[in-house]
Amino acid sequence: MAKPIPVIAIDGPSGAGKGVITQRLAMFQGYNILDSGALYRLIGLAARREGVDFGNRPKLVKLAQGLDISFFGTGDPENPLSIRLANEDVTRELRADEAGVDASKIATIGELRDAIRGLQRSFKQPPGLVADGRDMGTVVFQEAEVKIFLTASPEARAERRYKQLKDKGIDVTLSALSLSIHERDKRDMGREIAPLEPSTDAVIIDSSAMTIDQVFYRVLAVVEERLD
Ligand code: C5P
Repeated sequence: MAKPIPVIAIDGPSGAGKGVITQRLAMFQGYNILDSGALYRLIGLAARREGVDFGNRPKLVKLAQGLDISFFGTGDPENPLSIRLANEDVTRELRADEAGVDASKIATIGELRDAIRGLQRSFKQPPGLVADGRDMGTVVFQEAEVKIFLTASPEARAERRYKQLKDKGIDVTLSALSLSIHERDKRDMGREIAPLEPSTDAVIIDSSAMTIDQVFYRVLAVVEERLD
């Protein structure tokens, strides 16, 4: 029998540190990465560019099905991924807070979530996958060997996001970010389909009072325990 391809699912709310942990872990393990949030952000961006109303579900689904996207490794540990829409690098545009808000609006549409499930699963390639999102362990990769639910207090998350965006030269205020995180949490946790919640077999890590290194070694300990 073929050896199973291990999946490490990292779910949690916005700003909990999933992105950084996913990148470090994937590099450490030599695994592939799925940034599932980027897919929702890309659909939102494509919809805005083509003037598709977020209320027009059939058109959004069609757009998602025909999405011309690609991900490239840059070799730069700070910004390891270049994300392209129809061969144009849109990485920077996607990282803006507005793109996250748009993503969380269209992510409430069940048909759209179904439409990109196959694309998400296609990232499961040898030697393994680290999948970052909201429903990686609960819906898309229920079979994942390792499931982590990474969370932190809303205050800690808003401050981290603020620093992250500022460092990237993106203009934001802390109060606007706090409000946006609060609204995004409400939408992601309250939606009917694939709401943000820990899988029953996930290890929950609250990173509010932890450094990135501490979180990384804690996650690594779980990975080593579950993958052996
Ligand atoms: O992780 P990121 O901030 O890029 O995600 C943007 C939005 O996309 C989230 O707030 C969430 O609404 C949606 N999302 C989702 N399911 C995922 C990943 C992201 O619903 N697996």
